[in-house]
Amino acid sequence: MPLAVRSNPDLVLDDPSFRHYWFPLARADALADGPVARTLLGVELVLWSSAPGIVSAAPDRCPHRDARLSTGWIETCGLVCPYHGWAFGEDGTPSRIPQLPDGSSYPPKATLDTVRAAERYGWVWVCLDEPLHAIPEIPEFDLDGWRTVHEPESAWACTALHLIDNNIDPAHIAYVHRESFGTPERPEVPLPSVTRSPDGLLLGYDIEVEGRHGEPGTTLRSTRNRLANPFLMLNRITYPDGVVHLMVKACTPETAETTRQLQFVLRSDIEADRPADDIRAFDAQVWDEDKAVLEHCWTDYRLDLTENVHLKTDRPSIEYRRWVRRIVEAGHPVAPGDEAS
Ligand code: FES
Ligand SMILES: [Fe+2]
Repeated sequence: MPLAVRSNPDLVLDDPSFRHYWFPLARADALADGPVARTLLGVELVLWSSAPGIVSAAPDRCPHRDARLSTGWIETCGLVCPYHGWAFGEDGTPSRIPQLPDGSSYPPKATLDTVRAAERYGWVWVCLDEPLHAIPEIPEFDLDGWRTVHEPESAWACTALHLIDNNIDPAHIAYVHRESFGTPERPEVPLPSVTRSPDGLLLGYDIEVEGRHGEPGTTLRSTRNRLANPFLMLNRITYPDGVVHLMVKACTPETAETTRQLQFVLRSDIEADRPADDIRAFDAQVWDEDKAVLEHCWTDYRLDLTENVHLKTDRPSIEYRRWVRRIVEAGHPVAPGDEAS
């Protein structure tokens, strides 16, 4: 009998539970020049904005002759298909079919099968089914005294589950990030605290790392990380001088083997203290270091804990796998602290 090394590689795509979450799919400014193509949970979508603050999403396939609507453009009448010029309003109803005489009624099936879309925090969010989990509140985004560092979207050839797992794993820092902020001479990590809460999975640890660009010596990172849903983390890092670096990272599953990462950072200091370009350059290096490993990992993420070896320091990952498994078993979103579900 062959040795089984893969569990279900299409876990997230196959399971309808995840269609009830809101996912960030694009930076809102990516829609400024016209429609864009994005994939969510295996569904190819067109995203477009017909007016400032108004975003729409629909399957990226014209109901007439299968053109990709993401290759079209925006006019005052809405999203225009490049093939025969049909146009669609923000709710997907046709606003123009040039081949029909004025005053004609349009075929009902000409309406696009739109899905829910919303703009928040400078991102376009999409939910493929009835939303059963709200877009998380991030009060610091609107508070005085905080600045926002927007970061580029990035494409990852790994599963979203592995990417989140990597981000809640303090033990990899010493090795994977030895060229940036890891310290191979100190591979030990403190045992992380893990709390299952109605607000998500709460993780905490303090770790000594190399200073960021321009900082001599080491510094103590106090990390309090909240996974608001299985694909969205709010990672609050507090430095010894009291500066807070709140990293908001979304790992959106595109296909079974690819992920779109969106990220911005909220900082309690000012631009002169830590220029935004420095933060972006540092994070780009960190992502490249993670990609060198993650993009060669196996593409099935195992929820059966007996299939991997775990250490005590892997507790965040263990609880994360338990949480994802409970969602799959429930068939809908559940919070880690919601034991009754
Ligand atoms: S294929 Fe889109 S208008 Fe004909
Ligand atoms: Fe990493």
